[in-house]
Amino acid sequence: MSGVKLLATGSALPQHVVTNHDLEQIMDTSDEWITSRTGIGARHHCTGEESHTSLCLEAAKKALERSGVKAEEIGVCLVATLTPDFLTPATACVLQKELGLEHDTVCFDLNAACSGFVYALHTAQCLLAAAGRKYALVLGAEVLSRVIDSGDRSTYVLFGDGAGAAVLEWREDYPSIHAVLGCRGDDQVLTIPGVNKGVPAVVHMDGQGVFRFAVEALPHCAREVAQKAGISLEDVDRFVFHQANQRIINFAVKKLGVDPAKCTGNIAHTANTSAASVPILLDELMEKGEIKSGDKVLCVGFGGGLTWGGALLEVAQRREGDTK
Ligand code: COA
Repeated sequence: MSGVKLLATGSALPQHVVTNHDLEQIMDTSDEWITSRTGIGARHHCTGEESHTSLCLEAAKKALERSGVKAEEIGVCLVATLTPDFLTPATACVLQKELGLEHDTVCFDLNAACSGFVYALHTAQCLLAAAGRKYALVLGAEVLSRVIDSGDRSTYVLFGDGAGAAVLEWREDYPSIHAVLGCRGDDQVLTIPGVNKGVPAVVHMDGQGVFRFAVEALPHCAREVAQKAGISLEDVDRFVFHQANQRIINFAVKKLGVDPAKCTGNIAHTANTSAASVPILLDELMEKGEIKSGDKVLCVGFGGGLTWGGALLEVAQRREGDTK
């Protein structure tokens, strides 16, 4: 046995809130259409001095402070994202400098779209097994307001900005997170052109295609994680599902036959924040005391790629000397 547990979390949302009613003023849409189709009531957009980097720094500082782990104890720093401020330096490298992480900390960004944070949890667990220092800082962060086209109402209303961070501890006597990661390569259903395409880097999506994929991938992935971990879904204290669409979650909850009270989310005020969605929700639930030490939390992300990722994250006892 060996693996990671979650010590603490942090998150950051931009100050500026864009409500569905605000969107009614700039495009042909309605609060009724958006809420009934998606469960989204509002989203946050970066303005002024706010950036991907500033959100990451805020979330990371909160998580570190709450964990009681010092910057010099971090051995691995990963940022899951598809909307970094720079293609290089990676956001994780900027965090190394700004947070004062040691020079031999393994720092890089990874892109697995909305599954990115779960991919990063698994990657951190693998890297920590071989690292000298046994703590990792793992983030999911996006500024999706930069890659949505206000001329496309079918995608513009769905996405928001934010960052979430987690501090993990690896120990030989901790259980594995039993990650289940997968990919079914597809360049039609959900795409954002890269720098070499000569076309604007904005989201293109076949909404119904993504919907069909998600309602199958989410429950399948959750079941596989539980099976790999040798537990039943009833043994899970909390489910943290990627917040893409409330209707997708409702379908999955019904298919899995789990208690809907263990699956509540925050899409109403965050919208879809891609890789940031799972860690932001994790942090909100930790802050509200709805996730506590010892809890088994089953996280699932799914989305562009097409990718999916699930993991069973156990919350560690807080370390002595921590701040909360
Ligand atoms: N406001 C008002 N009307 C809108 C609209 C908006 N923001 N966006 C689209 N519409 C219209 C369409 O133009 C269409 O009109 P028409 O019938 O006159 O042609 C109508 O609503 C239905 O469009 P459709 O795309 O069939 O709607 P839908 O019921 O499939 O819902 C999504 C669209 C995007 C909400 C839904 O497909 C979805 O949530 N898919 C998953 C997306 C997702 O989660 N992506 C991220 C994955 S990580």
